[in-house]
Amino acid sequence: DVQRSLVLVKPDGVRRGLSGEVLRRIEAKGYTLAAVELRTATPEILAEHYAEHEGKPFYAPLVEFMLSGPVLAVVIEGERCVEGFRSLAGATDPTVAAPGTIRGDLGRDWGAAVQQNLVHGSDSPESAAREIGIWFSDLT
Ligand code: CMP
Repeated sequence: DVQRSLVLVKPDGVRRGLSGEVLRRIEAKGYTLAAVELRTATPEILAEHYAEHEGKPFYAPLVEFMLSGPVLAVVIEGERCVEGFRSLAGATDPTVAAPGTIRGDLGRDWGAAVQQNLVHGSDSPESAAREIGIWFSDLT
């Protein structure tokens, strides 16, 4: 199945100059870029994007972190790219993420209240459709 997935290079990744490295890995894997936009999130966008995490202890620090600088919002496309990008990204905790993955190679624990783990990737085709609608309302 050719799928689309929403990828975000989070503020830590943009700040550290890793946007190009993340795009390079996506393209090297053979996925195509359907949309790429550098933008600053808003509380409204994040409330929708992270609706499932509302009420969790890391929710407020997560939103604050995601507002701390611009993010690179990316729509990727390819055969099974939702699962494929999750494997490229590695485990949520960058300390545990396997070497060879984006988080395993480039991330580490910064001791903050929230995992600054460089990237986000949709966790299912349904989430991808929902998230692409949030970040790129003109792209369906
Ligand atoms: P992401 O996959 O974008 O979606 C939710 C984010 O919340 C996750 O990446 C991490 O940045 C953060 N997160 C998830 N679980 C935890 C946790 N247990 N503690 C702190 N931050 C978390």
